[in-house]
Amino acid sequence: MILVTGGTGYIGSHVCALLLAAGREVAIVDNLSNSGADVVDRLETVTGRRPLFHRGDVRDAGFLTEVAAKLRPECALHFAGLKAVAESVRQPLAYYDVNVGGTATLLKVLQQNGTRRFVFSSSATVYAPSEVMPLTEESPLGPYNPYGWTKFMAEQILRDLAAAAPDWRVAVLRYFNPVGAHESGLLGEKPLGTPNNLMPRLCDAAAGRTPRFSVFGLDYPTRDGSGVRDYLHVTDLALGHIRAMEHLETAAGAHVYNLGTGTGLSVLEMAAAFRAATGVEAPYEVCPRRPGDLAEYYSSPAKAERELGWKAEKTPADMCRDAWAFHRRCLAD
Ligand code: NAD
Ligand code: UFG
Repeated sequence: MILVTGGTGYIGSHVCALLLAAGREVAIVDNLSNSGADVVDRLETVTGRRPLFHRGDVRDAGFLTEVAAKLRPECALHFAGLKAVAESVRQPLAYYDVNVGGTATLLKVLQQNGTRRFVFSSSATVYAPSEVMPLTEESPLGPYNPYGWTKFMAEQILRDLAAAAPDWRVAVLRYFNPVGAHESGLLGEKPLGTPNNLMPRLCDAAAGRTPRFSVFGLDYPTRDGSGVRDYLHVTDLALGHIRAMEHLETAAGAHVYNLGTGTGLSVLEMAAAFRAATGVEAPYEVCPRRPGDLAEYYSSPAKAERELGWKAEKTPADMCRDAWAFHRRCLAD
């Protein structure tokens, strides 16, 4: 049995789809604060198999103990968390509570119930701003917002745990910019409220839900002046989790991996890729830089390729086509 916290969310649901399709037993724990229970039905439609679903909070030790004592999961994949950088600046305590407190509570319960394999959703935001690219796992750390610090602290808890208790096997996965959706069009990112990220905003503009999207800054020292990020397809990202989980069957200790493509794409390049892949123009206007944004960063995914045998395969065209298909389906629902 694999325990997936946050399994009805964007990334977790794609990992659940792969696990179920591979015949694994899956139990999802999610409080539905940023997702819907309909995802459980969708997973069944997509894979023909239904995961167990337990609605509850990862900060609730009593609830988690009931689930873990009954299921005795062999491995836990921990996606549950809060992820909006700007919100974390306004409400730091909520972020420390869920992302750090929730992780510590979950680990304590797993420790008491015999689970010793753990895969953690971390983020490229743990790295210090740098002009030296690509970012490797050894690049200096130094988050610059509360969200990043919560991931940094949760990583530290995991390193300390693996050092103190050698039977724990931990993979810390630092995601770059996940985009796209499941090829079925049934799973994807459905932001509640106004989206913050580039791809959902680009889709909103393409669909005419907003007149245009904002290009935040055309005066960065990048090849076309717009911000550059390492976008990767969520299905590739999900596959990285399967590889990491498998790796922990034999690898002891705590291991950190970047999950990205290794290639940066600018905002204008993404808009052009979207137009080419979908045939739809997303109008945009150039606006001032967004506070807190960096000009450019992208990963070196070499360690994940070397040790996990994982490499992102999907192209920007795949990312745009699948994001657009999911977006249109959501609008139709
Ligand atoms: P998401 O919001 O779609 O999924 C997170 C899920 O966790 C949601 O279903 C939500 O309902 C659930 N959840 C939140 N708080 C909870 C709690 N206290 N108890 C139980 N469930 C709770 O987000 P996502 O994009 O799928 O991200 C998954 C993980 O990956 C998060 O930890 C996030 O910080 C991390 N991450 C995401 C990105 C990204 O760009 N999407 C980048 C780097 C890291
Ligand atoms: N951008 C725009 N217009 C928009 C939205 C974004 O031009 O409407 C630009 C940004 O300035 C940036 C790029 O598009 O250059 C990507 O921005 P996103 O908001 O999509 O993503 P970020 O790189 O800012 O952050 C994302 C997640 C974080 C995570 C980080 C990890 O939102 O949670 O990736 O690398 F921590």
